[in-house]
Amino acid sequence: MEALRVVELYSGIGGMHYALKGSGISAQVVAAVDINPTANLVYQHNFPDTPLWNKTIEGITLDVFDKLSFDMLVMSPPCQPFTRIGLQGDITDARTKSFLYILHLLPRLCRRPRFILLENVKGFETSSARERLVETLKDCGYLFQEFMLSPTSVGIPNSRLRYFLMAKLSTETGSSGFSAQVPDVVLQSGSSGQDTAGESSSQPEASSQERRVLYKLETLVDIQRKSTQNRDESLRQIQDFLEPQTEVDLQQYLIPPRTLLRYCLLLDIVQPSCRRSVCFTKGYGRYVEGTGSVLQCHLETEMQSVFAGLELCSEEEKLQRLLNLQLRYFTPREVANLMGFPQSFSFPGQISTPQRYRVLGNSLNVVLVSRLLQLLVS
Ligand SMILES: C[S@@+](CC[C@H](N)C(=O)[O-])C[C@H]1O[C@@H](n2cnc3c(N)ncnc32)[C@H](O)[C@@H]1O
Repeated sequence: MEALRVVELYSGIGGMHYALKGSGISAQVVAAVDINPTANLVYQHNFPDTPLWNKTIEGITLDVFDKLSFDMLVMSPPCQPFTRIGLQGDITDARTKSFLYILHLLPRLCRRPRFILLENVKGFETSSARERLVETLKDCGYLFQEFMLSPTSVGIPNSRLRYFLMAKLSTETGSSGFSAQVPDVVLQSGSSGQDTAGESSSQPEASSQERRVLYKLETLVDIQRKSTQNRDESLRQIQDFLEPQTEVDLQQYLIPPRTLLRYCLLLDIVQPSCRRSVCFTKGYGRYVEGTGSVLQCHLETEMQSVFAGLELCSEEEKLQRLLNLQLRYFTPREVANLMGFPQSFSFPGQISTPQRYRVLGNSLNVVLVSRLLQLLVS
């Protein structure tokens, strides 16, 4: 089979490109487009032979897209317009302009791509941008499916609940559509799918006893949920994703005392034997709350013994107790591992650690997207 010609929009550090490679589909990325200079350096470093266009998507004409004559379009449009923190500007947000431009182009292309894969944040599924996308796809003769999925559904102990849409030109699918090809084991469709790191909104009601904080702001329900997740053998253990301890410069990644003292109750702490971690965002390493889990390196210290009655301790004693846990950030390599990037992926030397976290936080889970691409093209 001839290699599919793929256009990768909002290419970032190439999560979609790695997913294509991992899927085994015969494909060639004929153009990748992004305006972020750091992400582009990383992309170019890993895919030196791929044409990377450092320009805005809305600045590329229909004629130029037509000349690419592509079979597949993959894209992760900017997500800030659809997140709660991003104020949900949706289609009125300037950052959605390029996406609306793509929707404008699609019906006008001489040859529409046979396959489309789109990734975005939770929140996109209820947006007007999604409504416009769906209308455009229907008008252009595509069949499509939408999912809310997390890497936990492919055995990776990291939550990153995201919206995915896969579309095929209807001439590709025959009369049966393509929903029949989607095995339950991989996909939980619909927005209420269980996610093992608590991103799901469908939590059962807890009694006041269960809601009582035991330690570290955690209730009985939280502790039970985490321990259920950690016993779920369909998920791999965090230790499978760690760098050899001899290769980690512990000092560089240890959580600084000031952060420990101020934010210890907000840290999501995991051990190497755990089968869960929370989503790594672009603020990892800079902000504490909700930006990603941290790793306990000294396993002989019991968490409970550190946190019980901590509020009654002097600053000095509090710090001493917290330091006993030896808490550290996951290294960028480890975050990349949890996001399914292959070992061949690397950063150019000049990219700093905060920049690495930043671009990784904007990217996607490569293994999960690989599986979706296989389903889309199969
Ligand atoms: C969610 S990230 C995509 C990340 C990518 N999938 C990856 O694996 O790293 C969105 C990307 O879109 C880029 N971007 C935003 N607006 C753009 C525009 N108008 N034209 C081109 N790129 C744009 C940003 O620089 C950012 O890298």
